[in-house]
Amino acid sequence: MKTLCIDASSKKGASNSGYFIKVASRKMNCEEIIRLPRNKKYDDVLNKISDIDQLVIALPLYVDGIPSHVLMFLERLESYCIENQKSFKLYVIANCGFYEGEQTSIMLDQLKCFCKKADLIYGGAIGIGAGEMLGFIRYLPMIGLVISLIAYIIAFIIEAFHQSPDFIHVLLSPHYLTFLIQTGLTIIWSYKSWFKLLSFGKAVSEEKTVSNTYTTLSFCPKCLFIVIASIFWYLRLIFVHKKSFTTMFNKEQNYVFKGKSI
Ligand SMILES: Cc1cc2nc3c(=O)[nH]c(=O)nc-3n(C[C@H](O)[C@H](O)[C@H](O)COP(=O)(O)O)c2cc1C
Repeated sequence: MKTLCIDASSKKGASNSGYFIKVASRKMNCEEIIRLPRNKKYDDVLNKISDIDQLVIALPLYVDGIPSHVLMFLERLESYCIENQKSFKLYVIANCGFYEGEQTSIMLDQLKCFCKKADLIYGGAIGIGAGEMLGFIRYLPMIGLVISLIAYIIAFIIEAFHQSPDFIHVLLSPHYLTFLIQTGLTIIWSYKSWFKLLSFGKAVSEEKTVSNTYTTLSFCPKCLFIVIASIFWYLRLIFVHKKSFTTMFNKEQNYVFKGKSI
C-alpha cells in the first residue's frame, strides 16, 4: 500500500499544512511528503501519483473554499486520472485561520464532489481550526528556551562582576520557568489536535474510510483565542509588514471595477 502526502500550502517557507501533515505522518506509513509546486509544473507530482494507492493532501482554507492554486492542480489531476484510468483513495487535512475547524466543511464537500467527478475514493478528512495559532505555538518551547538561556547568561555576567560571585545562586534562579511555561502552553493548547491527527494518521495507515472530524485549540476558549490572535496580528503588522499601528483603523478604500466603485 503506497501513500503519498502533499503539502499544498501556497507559502514559500514553513507552512501550517506541512506541520499538520508531519504530525499525522508519525502514524502513517507515508512514502514521502512533497510540496505542491508553486510554478504549476505538476509533471513530477503526477509521476509520483502514478503508482500510489492513497493520497493525503494538506491544504489551507481560502475564502471558505479551495485555494485557486490547489484548484488548478485538482483540474490537472482529474484529467490525468481519467486519461490514465487511475484511481486511489484521497484523504484531506484542512486547516483554517478561524477558531472552528467546522469552517472547513464547505471545502471538504467540494473535495468530496471532486472525488466523485474524478472517480476517486474519498477517504475522509480532518478540519483544523485556529491553524495559524496552532502552527505558531509549535515554536513556543524553542522561543522559551532561548529566552531562558539569555536570562541565565545575563545573570551570570552580572554575577561575575560581584566581589564574591555566587554562580550556584544564579543557576538555581527560576529563569527556566519561561521555558517550562511555554512548553506547557504548547502541550495544553495542541494536545487535542495532536491526538486527532495521530488517530487520523492511524486510520490512513489502516486504509480505513473515516467520516470528517473537526478540531481546534484545546483548553483555549474562543474569547482567549481572539485576544491572543489580535495581539499576534498587530505585532505582525508592525514588525513583519512594517506598517504603523493605526493602519488597522484606516477607512476602507473605494475600489473601482469596470468603472463602478465597489
Ligand atoms: C487569501 C486567504 C484567504 C483565507 N480565507 C480564510 C477563510 O475564509 N477562513 C479561515 O478560517 N481562514 C482563512 N484564511 C487563513 C488560512 O486558512 C490560514 O492562515 C491557514 O492556517 C494557512 O495555512 P498554511 O500555512 O498551510 O498555508 C485565509 C488565508 C488567506 C491567505
